[in-house]
Amino acid sequence: RAVPDTPAPRPAVLVARAIFPEVLDKLRQHFEVSDNEHDEDWSAQELIARLQGKAGVLTTGSQRIDAALLQACPQLRIVANMAVGFNNFDVAAMTEAGVVGTNTPDVLTETTADFGFALLLAAARRVTESEHFLRAGRWDRWAYDLFAGQDVHGSTLGILGMGRIGQGIALRGAHGFGMRVIYHNRSRLDPAIEAQCRATYVSKEALLRQADHLVLVLPYTPENHHLIGAAELALMKPTATLVNIARGGIVDDAALAHALRERRIAAAGLDVFEGEPRVHPDLLTVPNVVLTPHIASATRATRLAMAHLAADNLIAFLTQGRALTPVNA
Ligand code: DGY
Repeated sequence: RAVPDTPAPRPAVLVARAIFPEVLDKLRQHFEVSDNEHDEDWSAQELIARLQGKAGVLTTGSQRIDAALLQACPQLRIVANMAVGFNNFDVAAMTEAGVVGTNTPDVLTETTADFGFALLLAAARRVTESEHFLRAGRWDRWAYDLFAGQDVHGSTLGILGMGRIGQGIALRGAHGFGMRVIYHNRSRLDPAIEAQCRATYVSKEALLRQADHLVLVLPYTPENHHLIGAAELALMKPTATLVNIARGGIVDDAALAHALRERRIAAAGLDVFEGEPRVHPDLLTVPNVVLTPHIASATRATRLAMAHLAADNLIAFLTQGRALTPVNA
């Protein structure tokens, strides 16, 4: 007698932070899904406990995936980060354990580059500082030097890290604001891309010395820890603006707060912080810095695209064996 086929059990996956309901529904069509209904901030131990028996996990960049976790979760095969940055991954340990990591490149490039410019403009033109002044009821007259800031158009834009987002910043600066664009990167770009971005490669020191506005768009690695500290800030122009939309830890936040207070540089715009969501208390008390809570990619459309791409990575890998955007394939 023919025995009816029993369907293979569906893989179990974990979604480590709250995401869009429609993306959860898509995952439920393929997997047994456990989610973080109340969007709790799980400890490493809690995450390990929830990962037992799971073949995949959708992370958001705030969950550390290291050797200890991988050892404790032997069934895990894929970690899909809903972020382009993946400094929360110990990539070597993942590769060693045979676990694929994926990120969400491209879908957030333009939105993040837009936000880099929003911070640059807000910092250089003292937008939030002047708004606080107005809201405090302190505006009683027009004055020739009231919140006089630094020009953006026609100035020199420095970009440290010239990947996709860096190039998006360069295009906006060169073509939209008539800026002279200089950049420093691990490697020099293809001349055709340099020409398109109207960007000139310079040394890191020249970048720091010449930029009127310096935007950080490089990945965080142990080598980049406090890459911008007191010594680097001292090389910058006293009229310069520093924007960080990359990762906390690249900038020494205490040294930056000091440089801003002493007017060693004019202003800063920061979307990322070392040890976030905590923010160095010194930054909270200097007026000439614009502070935002890691929202550079946060438009509804872009966050939805990021969540879909992370989910699609889980689906492609666990159903067809091939991730779409692996970082360690
Ligand atoms: C990224 O994609 O790396 C962002 O920083 C996460 O929001």
